[in-house]
Amino acid sequence: MPGFIAGALLFLSFLFVQASMFSGQNVSEEDVIVYPEEVKTIIDRSCYSCHNSKSKGVKGKTAFNFDKLDKKKSLKQIGKLGKIIKKIEADKMPPKKHIEENADAALSANDKKILIDWANDQTKMLMNN
Ligand code: HEC
Repeated sequence: MPGFIAGALLFLSFLFVQASMFSGQNVSEEDVIVYPEEVKTIIDRSCYSCHNSKSKGVKGKTAFNFDKLDKKKSLKQIGKLGKIIKKIEADKMPPKKHIEENADAALSANDKKILIDWANDQTKMLMNN
């Protein structure tokens, strides 16, 4: 009975599609921003001291906190990544005053490129989920 077999196959493939859609959803819920080693090194050196939960500077950690980024909804994460790009492109972060006191916190042209490329990649990753 080919009709029956075709029907069964259709039903099975339907289940399969459902199952893969479901597992796709699971993956997206667990997807978090990834920090490759070279990105982490730059952030640790130039950003993290102000933008972490234990920072003494309330203004910096309230505006943006790397420790809390993964707990935010994708849309918010995308927003923050966009702000990172803007601040870096405008040479607003790290703040000038901070660089005057900590010369090694300054971002080189290559550091900026690495951070901006990373933020763009993570944005794409979050948008595809
Ligand atoms: C000396 C402390 C300090 C350092 C270092 C620092 N920031 Fe900031 N950052 C602040 C403060 C204070 C604010 C809030 C005021 C403002 O927006 O200018 C801020 C704001 C921001 C914002 C804006 C968040 C929003 O939603 O408006 C982003 C994004 C940001 N910083 C990213 C970075 C990145 C990326 C680095 C490293 C390249 C960095 N910061 C280094 C102090 C710092």
